[in-house]
Amino acid sequence: MQAPSPRRKLSGAQAGIPPRHVDFQFPAQAPRHFFFDGNPAASSIFAVFSGIFPPGERFFVESVRRFRDRIDDPELKARVSGFIGQEALHGREHERLNAWFAERGIDTGPSERRVKWALRQLERFSPEQQLACTTMMEHFTAILAELWLTDEEFRSKADPEMLKLWSWHALEELEHKSVAYEVYEKVGGGDRERRRATTLVAIFLLPGILASWVELSLRGGALRDPREFYRGLVALLGRRGFITRVLRKLPFYWRDGFHPSRHDTRALEARVREQLFGEGGELREQWKNREALAA
Ligand SMILES: [Fe+2]
Ligand SMILES: [Fe+2]
Repeated sequence: MQAPSPRRKLSGAQAGIPPRHVDFQFPAQAPRHFFFDGNPAASSIFAVFSGIFPPGERFFVESVRRFRDRIDDPELKARVSGFIGQEALHGREHERLNAWFAERGIDTGPSERRVKWALRQLERFSPEQQLACTTMMEHFTAILAELWLTDEEFRSKADPEMLKLWSWHALEELEHKSVAYEVYEKVGGGDRERRRATTLVAIFLLPGILASWVELSLRGGALRDPREFYRGLVALLGRRGFITRVLRKLPFYWRDGFHPSRHDTRALEARVREQLFGEGGELREQWKNREALAA
């Protein structure tokens, strides 16, 4: 990484948050259900996540951008730029993925519409409260990302091409996991809004996510093979289920002294960075702005 000249503005990449433009090639011959060895219940929840990411990430970006002028620390300013760049690219690639899903009969439209409605309700609250909601949801995505990158059983049962996109997204979620929270602290965000954020997110977003998941699972053939559907439910919501393990870590957010960086994921990030974008990495060839980010 090149050291910036004193007069040059620090970029997101120079602050450790590079918005990587990756040209994903979605395979023509991919299974309709791409996770948990083709399980409809498990694949559907990730299709729902993909549906809610574009509007959700726009909300995250806007809630942080509003406070940009109040940040004078050049390092944090650069981290904010990196955060905005990464989230914008995630939204764009998930929109492409959702179009690809639609061609295969997986309609993420209802989940997108429901989350847009939920976000409009959150927009009625103060900018500070909206930013607090973003810190809560960023905590959730960081937990999801870490599990996504470390659960070998889950990874081995995913379609390999699909895995690359989700791993790229997960890596960048970890790279920028503290940014919204750092901005929240900088602008004097308090515990009251932070604690209320969980309730607001649960009331407005959760029902739509659950409804979309059930709807998509049913359309994906869940009832044609109830045993398989049950296998997916256990894999997600059983005692050692994927979502259960995410939910178990959510309460860290309510603890006194919570800060996303307290849970150190830098070694994991370095390993995944190398695996995806290092010399000979899985996405090295598809990484379009590699040289621009290094400049
Ligand atoms: Fe993201
Ligand atoms: Fe994020």
